[in-house]
Amino acid sequence: MQRLLAIATIVASLPAAYSQDCPGTFDPITAEDFVAALHPGWNVGNTLDATPDEGSWNNAPIDGATLDVVKESGFNSIRLPVTWTHHFTGSSPDWTVDPKWLQRVSDVLDLITERDLYAIVNVHHDSWEWADVTAAGANITMIEEKFYRLWYQIGTTLACKSSMVAFESINEPPANTAEDGAEINKLNSIFLQAIADAGGFNSQRVVNLVGGGEDSIKTSQWFEVPANITNPWAIQFHYYSPYDFIFSAWGKTIWGSDSDKDTLTTDFELLRGNFTDVPLILGEYDASSTNTEPAARWKYFDHLQHVAAQHGIPTFLWDNGEDQLDRTTGEWRDPTTLQLIIGTTEETSSSLPDSTEDAAAAEQFSSAYIFHRAGTQVTSQTLPYLFNGNTLASITDSAGTVLESGSDYSVSGESIIFSAKYLATKLTASTPTGVVDTLTLEFDGGVASPTLEIVQWDNPVLKTTDAIASDVAGADLSIPITWKGLSKPAAVKAISRSGTYLFDDWTQYLGPLQQARATYSSHWSWDDENVIITAAAIDAVVAAGESSLFMFEFYPRVNGTANTANFTLNV
Ligand SMILES: *[C@@H]1O[C@H](CO)[C@@H](O)[C@H](O)[C@H]1NC(C)=O
Ligand SMILES: *[C@@H]1O[C@H](CO)[C@@H](O)[C@H](O)[C@H]1NC(C)=O
Ligand SMILES: *[C@@H]1O[C@H](CO)[C@@H](O)[C@H](O)[C@H]1NC(C)=O
Ligand SMILES: *[C@@H]1O[C@H](CO)[C@@H](O)[C@H](O)[C@H]1NC(C)=O
Ligand SMILES: *[C@@H]1O[C@H](CO)[C@@H](O)[C@H](O)[C@H]1NC(C)=O
Repeated sequence: MQRLLAIATIVASLPAAYSQDCPGTFDPITAEDFVAALHPGWNVGNTLDATPDEGSWNNAPIDGATLDVVKESGFNSIRLPVTWTHHFTGSSPDWTVDPKWLQRVSDVLDLITERDLYAIVNVHHDSWEWADVTAAGANITMIEEKFYRLWYQIGTTLACKSSMVAFESINEPPANTAEDGAEINKLNSIFLQAIADAGGFNSQRVVNLVGGGEDSIKTSQWFEVPANITNPWAIQFHYYSPYDFIFSAWGKTIWGSDSDKDTLTTDFELLRGNFTDVPLILGEYDASSTNTEPAARWKYFDHLQHVAAQHGIPTFLWDNGEDQLDRTTGEWRDPTTLQLIIGTTEETSSSLPDSTEDAAAAEQFSSAYIFHRAGTQVTSQTLPYLFNGNTLASITDSAGTVLESGSDYSVSGESIIFSAKYLATKLTASTPTGVVDTLTLEFDGGVASPTLEIVQWDNPVLKTTDAIASDVAGADLSIPITWKGLSKPAAVKAISRSGTYLFDDWTQYLGPLQQARATYSSHWSWDDENVIITAAAIDAVVAAGESSLFMFEFYPRVNGTANTANFTLNV
């Protein structure tokens, strides 16, 4: 009751609402039918959600050519995240939004729907910038007032969009307590009121409502259906789990055990169990082709897509512009991932490279690669493969040459064996390091034609091997590297001279590939020419008051320290 009164108060204090007449007619669609049409979906990430403006981050403004690629690649829908924070031109109580920005969002939606792609538009990073109900001293009255006014203006501008456009109330709103969860429910109600007041076709439009954090557990715990909701509605949630694998934390480069799969299956089942008759949308998920190991990643996409399909949940791949589609070239960075997203259904059974699944392992193998160490003899290589009931049909190299079954390779049981004679045509002891060739495997079933990279590797070399922590504190430290194989680290071990873990002492209870390992992006990173120790990690060394070793590890993650490069930060 109190909630409803509060909304009425906000509305009463604002300029009179008007009901907008729209040209044409609206083709009503149920939430069930809308949701059934979405899969697969793609996020135009880091674009209109960038701050302060579109183009401020790593992507150029979105254009039709990129949307054409997405459409041609097999996607049926686009989620358009939009951050409004930096486009308000007025303050309380009107909170006027720059009409040019409203028009830009409207125009991009037209670019999407005129390609026959469904669209979901939202209020995005605002959830952390001004609409964070958990922030210390948050003025909830202001958040509600501003949120109503924002959605009223969005609703007015977009009132006449077709039924292919849905509105999502707010992206990943922080919520730590049941009280916060109740406030998110209230924001959902305010959103519904605002778009209804804006008129046009909005009262018939499909809406996406969200729970705390837009995560499956908080949504299950605290989400309540808004009173008297009349719009067709679905719940949107996001899934980036397990955190360590998705975000390359604590050396977690392995995924795919039965227990890993069961956890994901259960997470989806529990959400479905809470909302048995509500259409659900997975609005964001990703395993980046930049920072995850491919065999593990493909197992993840294959499993996630199966489980989502079983529950009738359409999926929207998060793509920040650096992970999946290269918007400059129009090429997908990982075609196998794309195939799995587009093609996987409940029934499909794809053949995939096998890889280490045991978290206690001391090294990690991956049949997404043929790794050959420089300076060693070329021998035959046996790659365990998950045929999943299919038969290998062909292997083709990047020049289009089809390998000869029986002499170049053979299949034995659940393995593909590449002959020494064949590998010697690609590799010698002195072949320059790096990716030598990329093979593509075709099977008689499934949706994937996985790639297989032949890589000559050796120990990468750092240009400098130490620095004084206090001298370099305050900024990320880039250390020039000569890559010798794959041009990325797999993990970084950070340990102080006395043997103390620089981060997360509890990782001692994990397997040997994870103990004392730091976290990608928070503590370490890389670019084309450098490995990077972040300012936060340097601060940690200064705070520890002890010289610390950063051991960069590369693929293949062989037992021990054979494929590592060390950097010491002295104090
Ligand atoms: C909270 O926001 C409301 C509405 O914008 C405003 O009237 C009020 O003064 C604000 N309260 C504080 C403490 O800033
Ligand atoms: C919801 O419906 C009930 C019963 O018709 C009504 O008493 C109540 O005022 C309605 N609430 C809103 C917010 O419209
Ligand atoms: C609802 O979700 C919660 C949190 O994940 C879970 O504990 C509970 O078992 C779920 N209920 C059902 C019926 O699935
Ligand atoms: C890894 O190397 C250590 C010694 O460096 C050895 O004790 C251990 O057995 C090796 N493990 C595997 C799986 O090769
Ligand atoms: C890096 O340091 C570790 C620990 O001292 C050592 O075992 C390893 O051999 C070193 N790696 C290289 C490439 O020097």
